[in-house]
Amino acid sequence: MDDWWGRPIRSGLPRLFLDHFHRTSLVAEDGDRLAGFLIGFMSPSVPDAAYIHFAGVAPDHRGGGLARRLYQRFFDLAVAEHRTTVKAITSPQNRGSIAFHTAMGFTVTGPVSGYDGPAVDRIVFQLRLSPRRKTGATSPE
Ligand SMILES: CC(C)(COP(=O)(O)OP(=O)(O)OC[C@H]1O[C@@H](n2cnc3c(N)ncnc32)[C@H](O)[C@@H]1OP(=O)(O)O)[C@@H](O)C(=O)NCCC(=O)NCCS
Repeated sequence: MDDWWGRPIRSGLPRLFLDHFHRTSLVAEDGDRLAGFLIGFMSPSVPDAAYIHFAGVAPDHRGGGLARRLYQRFFDLAVAEHRTTVKAITSPQNRGSIAFHTAMGFTVTGPVSGYDGPAVDRIVFQLRLSPRRKTGATSPE
């Protein structure tokens, strides 16, 4: 993750996410190599919300629509579980993530000062899902 993000980030994805959220998370493989992943879940406390905690695509697989397909697949999972919003956050310096979420149709709010504690500002993304949404998403490769 640190290589893919270009900065120390992997402490944000402890094992508990893989052990307890794999049903609603996705991996994309290229042979025996990881090409991309999405860690997401249906909020246990906010019944209409789904949340994407992390998503990443290997540098040599970027720009080909893989992250879009992972997100579309997650949206389909969320709609099937009667969720109407998808939320995610990122760091204000992550221009690529802001551009990607904007391209995916998320509303972009922030930087929200102190979102994750003192001096930890975050950009907040939100997308409204239509119950009739039909993405036609194909399987991640
Ligand atoms: C952000 C990231 C997941 C995008 O993955 P990707 O597979 O290259 O994205 P896609 O090819 O599916 O792009 C989907 C759309 O977002 C846009 N987009 C993606 N990355 C972009 C960037 N860095 N700058 C501008 N636009 C970008 C694409 O142009 C595309 O728009 P379009 O469909 O309207 O043409 C990838 O760059 C990455 O893993 N970055 C490091 C990790 C990270 O920051 N993750 C963010 C979420 S935690």
